[in-house]
Amino acid sequence: MDQYRVFGNPIKQSRSPAIHQSFALQTKQNLSYQSQLVALDSFSQTINNFISQGGKGANITVPFKEQALALCDQLSERARLAGAVNTLSFEQGKIIGDNTDGLGLVQDLISHNVLFKNKNILLLGAGGAARGVILSLLDQQPDLLVIANRTVSKAETLCKQFSDNRLIGCGFDEIELQGYDVIINATSASLSGSVPPISEQLISHKTVCYDMVYSKELTPFLIWAKQHNAKKVIDGLGMLVGQAAESFSIWRKIKPDTASVLTKLRVELMLE
Ligand code: ATR
Repeated sequence: MDQYRVFGNPIKQSRSPAIHQSFALQTKQNLSYQSQLVALDSFSQTINNFISQGGKGANITVPFKEQALALCDQLSERARLAGAVNTLSFEQGKIIGDNTDGLGLVQDLISHNVLFKNKNILLLGAGGAARGVILSLLDQQPDLLVIANRTVSKAETLCKQFSDNRLIGCGFDEIELQGYDVIINATSASLSGSVPPISEQLISHKTVCYDMVYSKELTPFLIWAKQHNAKKVIDGLGMLVGQAAESFSIWRKIKPDTASVLTKLRVELMLE
């Protein structure tokens, strides 16, 4: 049976095994997918061991996505620009790296009828999570993608790296324009119970607010967005399922249905 794993530290919380097992059942693929905790200093050794045991592919999560990139013999353009790899395929002695996070985000938003063409998007954060989705967002042909970050220089550096004239980098208190079509929170602020300090005037009745983080309750950012009358608020559970579906289709060449798996996961989350 073909073996797949997700590697990270911590890993106990990972929902990837449940998601991939659902995909495998649904598409009648005979495979096994498990999670494995990796010691902080033994990432490459762990991956090489898995390859020598016949592993076919892996997902990589925090904090190893950059190390995974360094291990690859071949990289997709989106992984190279993201500076991080979340999907490895092991083929004919080669390690091939990809990054499906951006597509997971975009597909989730599209499934909520959010379109990007000629729209103005505000991306909060300039860390790994933000970097991983920029190319996919630009591919959707927005007019403008503003990257705002607490540390302004990091937002500016990201804009330089992508060198696209639709990109603007700035600090939270210098965000030009109001009433964005989409505001995406890619900071880790929600994890510490806080909200990036941005003006509520960035939200209008047409604004969709998205938090890449998810939890049983609405995240602090989404509570804030609702209080200021955002049109719609969406958390990152759909992005998680979407990036997994894209990894699955890279490995198995078959695209699973995400909606049914997302519904099941949402129910499980509510019952926890
Ligand atoms: P990740 O991989 O989740 O992106 P990261 O690379 O450490 O993690 O980046 C975390 C992001 O969240 C950064 O943009 C960080 O801002 P700084 O670059 O200024 O550090 C942002 N962040 C973390 N806590 C925040 C908070 N309380 N308010 C606003 N931004 C925050």
